[in-house]
Amino acid sequence: RGEDEQTEDYLFKIVLIGDSAVGKSNLLARFARDEFYPNSKSTIGVEFQTQKMDINGKEVKAQIWDTAGQERFRAVTSAYYRGAVGALLVYDISRRQTFDSVGRWLNELHTHSDMNVVTILVGNKSDLKDAREVTVAEAKALAEAQGLFFMETSALDSSNVVAAFRTVVEEIY
Ligand code: GTP
Ligand code: MG
Repeated sequence: RGEDEQTEDYLFKIVLIGDSAVGKSNLLARFARDEFYPNSKSTIGVEFQTQKMDINGKEVKAQIWDTAGQERFRAVTSAYYRGAVGALLVYDISRRQTFDSVGRWLNELHTHSDMNVVTILVGNKSDLKDAREVTVAEAKALAEAQGLFFMETSALDSSNVVAAFRTVVEEIY
């Protein structure tokens, strides 16, 4: 019983946000189930996964929420953000347009959740080196200016996926 109660203390809601097709659902699939879907469809509504993590010897549960980047498929915005203590704001390093949307996503995040929600800017699809449209330097500069953590990831080859989620959870904890 005591253990159950203690676990409850460490349930953190984390939201995935960013434009459609940047790889939010695949980052979650890679993190929670070590799976990748080459032809995944747009998320409809909202999905979430609860993942146990060991942080400094303590069991922490991260409840990670995922919705569509596209307005017409999205979950109710206020409900999606309610109670979130962490966020992964994802763009696609091979599509400049998705990086240009980061400011808009930050506005929405700050409108609907606590100002001090721990946020990491995630440049996904780092495996697509030849198609890169956003440099590490400019993403780092933006992250620094906005007070965000930053990491490039690849849901395809797994690089930095666990690290990105851990960065957020460790900072919350
Ligand atoms: P919405 O649900 O519409 O908001 O999209 P999403 O952000 O959840 O994107 P999703 O995870 O569905 O991925 C979109 C496409 O990008 C899929 O075809 C994925 O296979 C592909 N993809 C996701 N992550 C990566 C990655 O790291 N590298 C590469 N090369 N492709 C990826
Ligand atoms: Mg999705």
